[in-house]
Amino acid sequence: MEPNHLSSQPIGIFDSGIGGLTVAHALVTSLPKENIIYFGDTAHLPYGDKSTAAIQAYAVKIAHMLLQQECKLILIACNSASAAAYELVKEYIGSKAMVMNVIDPTIHLLKEKYASKHIGLIGTKQTVNSHIYKKKIDDLNLNIQLSSHATNLLASAIEEFGNHHVIDSLLQVYLSHPELQHIDALVLACTHYPIIKNKIFQLYMMSNNRSIEIIDSSEIVALAVKKQLEENNLLNGSGTSTKHFYLSDYTESFATNAKLFFGEDITLEHYPLWD
Ligand code: DGL
Repeated sequence: MEPNHLSSQPIGIFDSGIGGLTVAHALVTSLPKENIIYFGDTAHLPYGDKSTAAIQAYAVKIAHMLLQQECKLILIACNSASAAAYELVKEYIGSKAMVMNVIDPTIHLLKEKYASKHIGLIGTKQTVNSHIYKKKIDDLNLNIQLSSHATNLLASAIEEFGNHHVIDSLLQVYLSHPELQHIDALVLACTHYPIIKNKIFQLYMMSNNRSIEIIDSSEIVALAVKKQLEENNLLNGSGTSTKHFYLSDYTESFATNAKLFFGEDITLEHYPLWD
């Protein structure tokens, strides 16, 4: 097949803050030649407690900015924004770029591997109260029993403390919630949570005296993006890749935490989208 001249255009990725870097990291690992523009809306963090209308307004403006940077694909690397604003962003962008979210690839995995199981889910208030996972599961008749629990403070605690043991007691309270007992697997429905995946596994075991399979969507999403680019003949096969990481509000603590989410190799820049 002839190379597509649009394939060297960047992939735009955004989240409320630096949580989406867990997805960006998986993406860079499986697609090292892609050019990446990451936008973390740290000025409005956390999205999980915001109204749907507010998240929609943020998401459309960020998508507009990514479109101006000529992104070929815009990935909403945030469950809360995927739940609140995916349909609107898709409509806004139209045929000018592809738009993907982090929820559909996880639903696809549930369909392939977990039909008829009892699945637990933890996420922000926005994601859990939207019932978007339940609606999508029911639309596909997957016969999955879904038990969701909003872990409201977790994303902010991870932003502040990373994987530090100070968050253990908070996590223990969340994980021992009655909704999350007797489940076969647990979906991490917030892109901040993969950073403490091992801790979630260990504390679930301590609180419930049994181990649990953890469904971390960062790799699943990266593979879905790869498939989408392949199907549209838009994989970047040549040249050296560039990566830009922007934050709407820059502080040293974000810069330090970003290394936790992404690894050492990251330089953050301030992008004053709201000024
Ligand atoms: N990372 C975002 C998500 O996946 C949530 C964090 C926030 O509340 O801003 O939902």
